[in-house]
Amino acid sequence: MPAWRSWLATPRFAIAAVRAGHWTGTANRLSPSRVDWPAIAAVEAATLKPSTAPPPLRSFAAIHAPAPRSMRDDPRAAAIIRQRRSAVDMDGRTGLSIDVFFGMLARTLPDRSHPPWTAADFPARIHLCLFVHRIDGLSPGLYVLMRDEARIDAFRAACHDGFAWGHVVSSGIPLYALSLGDCREAVTHASCFQAIAGDSAFSLGMVADFARTLEEDGAWAYRRLFWETGLIGQVLYLEAEAAGVRSTGMGCYFDDFVHRLLGIDLGDDAWQSLYHFTVGGAVEDERLTTLPAYDQLPPERIKPSRSL
Ligand SMILES: Cc1cc2nc3c(=O)[nH]c(=O)nc-3n(C[C@H](O)[C@H](O)[C@H](O)COP(=O)(O)O)c2cc1C
Repeated sequence: MPAWRSWLATPRFAIAAVRAGHWTGTANRLSPSRVDWPAIAAVEAATLKPSTAPPPLRSFAAIHAPAPRSMRDDPRAAAIIRQRRSAVDMDGRTGLSIDVFFGMLARTLPDRSHPPWTAADFPARIHLCLFVHRIDGLSPGLYVLMRDEARIDAFRAACHDGFAWGHVVSSGIPLYALSLGDCREAVTHASCFQAIAGDSAFSLGMVADFARTLEEDGAWAYRRLFWETGLIGQVLYLEAEAAGVRSTGMGCYFDDFVHRLLGIDLGDDAWQSLYHFTVGGAVEDERLTTLPAYDQLPPERIKPSRSL
């Protein structure tokens, strides 16, 4: 058997646990039928990337710029990457300091000088609609982080005209307060009634500058918008772990509901909500087993790389 196959094999402890298990009830048979979702195949075909001109070459050194010394020598990076997990439940109590919150948001900005943005060769088209619940020193409410501040007038014109648009100057980033107040219930509803959206310190919807991006770059940019939301999500996952809290990316949300909250015209696709995220104090689920990362590999294969 090739070595990689043995790494994929079911761990012995799991087989033993199943053997020793006490079974109750009757298991359902998995359905042999297959459900077709033609819309997904149609979207896949419509958004295939055609051959496009390569982006302007940036030097290898610019893309792989070494992390600042303070980061490189910090042994926590490897530990944080390996310990990252999604929260399945939030405690409804834990908050974050305003400095940590501002720092997390700053890392989602498309500043090319640090990863993962050094690897992104496309413009920022995703903005963050933040539902603040428990940030010390910041009033709960709806905020927006304009990741491309040049689009503030266009986005503002598309939203409810009653929003305040007060720049949170102390953040040092393009963060604006739209409407203050308790938004836990609203964002829980917007996130398919998932309690983790309201029981966190803050949660957010990622809203794309949608029609313009597809008009300018073609239908395949639909996929690129999701790459961008994914990058922002992974930054937040690691930032949450580093801050001693936890987070979850949420693909289940009601986009029309989010658009209604913001006042965005439902009949228009200029702006489109694409992904949700939540950050807060996690409640461990005792029924889940967590093994060390790469536990199936022999120890000599998981020595941390020096650059981490
Ligand atoms: C595209 C996508 C959508 C997801 N949507 C949800 C969601 O709506 N609610 C949720 O609780 N978790 C959601 N998750 C998180 C997954 O449940 C989680 O990543 C998975 O259980 C693996 O756990 P891990 O992130 O700890 O490795 C989503 C993950 C992905 C990749």
